[in-house]
Amino acid sequence: MSNWNKSSWREKPILQQPTYPDKKELDKVLDILKGYPPLVFAGEARKLKKSLCEVAKGRAFLLQGGDCAESFSEFHADNIRDTFKVLLQMSVIMTYAGSLPVVKVGRLGGQFAKPRSSDTETINGKTLDSYRGDIINGVDFTKKDRTPDPERMIKAYNQSAATLNLLRAFASGGMADLREVHKWNLDFAHKSKVTKKYETLAHNIEQSLDFMAACGITSKSYKTLAETDFYTSHEALLLPYEETFTRQDSLTDEWYDTSSHMLWIGDRTRQLDGAHIEFMRGIKNPIGIKAGPSMTPDELIRLIDVLNPDNEAGRLNVIVRMGADKVGEGMPSLLKAAKREGKEIVWSCDPMHGNTIKSGNGYKTRPVEAVLREMKQFFQVHKAEGTFAGGVHLEMTGKDVTECIGGSFEIREDDLSSRYHTHCDPRLNADQSLELAFLIADTLKEARCL
Ligand code: PEP
Ligand code: CO
Repeated sequence: MSNWNKSSWREKPILQQPTYPDKKELDKVLDILKGYPPLVFAGEARKLKKSLCEVAKGRAFLLQGGDCAESFSEFHADNIRDTFKVLLQMSVIMTYAGSLPVVKVGRLGGQFAKPRSSDTETINGKTLDSYRGDIINGVDFTKKDRTPDPERMIKAYNQSAATLNLLRAFASGGMADLREVHKWNLDFAHKSKVTKKYETLAHNIEQSLDFMAACGITSKSYKTLAETDFYTSHEALLLPYEETFTRQDSLTDEWYDTSSHMLWIGDRTRQLDGAHIEFMRGIKNPIGIKAGPSMTPDELIRLIDVLNPDNEAGRLNVIVRMGADKVGEGMPSLLKAAKREGKEIVWSCDPMHGNTIKSGNGYKTRPVEAVLREMKQFFQVHKAEGTFAGGVHLEMTGKDVTECIGGSFEIREDDLSSRYHTHCDPRLNADQSLELAFLIADTLKEARCL
């Protein structure tokens, strides 16, 4: 890797970073973090890369989802458990109906830093720094909260460590046992069409498990029925933090960002000559790059050449987020260019970030109809181009929030205020996430002519 080291990004122009008032304080915190244990092991990142290689080859599907932004105030075991449960539900729906293994990656355990459209925010004539995520500053509109504070990185690290600890326990300690498939359904006061549909599917799975048990195959004898692999990911935005966790793997001598299994580059920080691309090209983790409507085929190919020069399948996930009205026009040329150049890509669809609107009563929201429409078109365009629609990237939660309008439980604009909890972008709630999973499962089934 020519001229790369974990600090070489510092020589490049950088966007979307906070200005810390006290440089000495920042350096002190970074020194502390450098001594902290890694959150993941390089071998785990390699294992994820292998699974993503299966996605690139059309033999598995990637499900990536979680909060837009994790926060200190919403940090609670129940929230982590419920997001984990919904991701398991979604994956079982896709695996059962679509007959494809699902690679599960949470936007969790480090998804704190946020890019913003403006550096400052003005309310009633008062101007302060924009909120950039709890790892950087606080959400309250006060000078104290909005001033970037490096100590927040330590708190974010500790929260990520505790989150990962619980996720690992869930993944291998019994919660992910297929025998528990009924219990993954969340206990809301209402039962929607979708939760009922899930109960039927869970019942069918249980019957299959009974049959397999009668044949001698149980979760006691086959670990894959009792455990799952669950990975973490976040946007590698705050590079001083990412640099401190970039460590040399003792087995391979390669460099990994050990803050997470997978990292991605946001749509706003993917400049070819910028700091984020420089940093990401050198780490060996599987990585993602967002592709919004402004991405041109030529730009995409040049980015791929820099980020995945060896054309390794499973290394690079292109996350298309154009919006339901633009994806049909914008995506075909990207697929054509990558196909023409023989690039190994995991293509996934983020049907969230191109479909954000402001509701009549002032809430940032997303119509579930647009989310489903973008997803459908993503599949259709891939089918037309002969490429594999490999995954989905979602902002969702296991909670019964009212942040996106529509869906089987028909949340209307007037309902948004009742449980609008997000710190950043509106998330699909548990019901809406399951609805999307059933749509994906049906499409996968159709594509495989099952
Ligand atoms: C995000 O994933 O939260 C995000 C900011 O996305 P994008 O970079 O695609 O705008
Ligand atoms: Co977001």
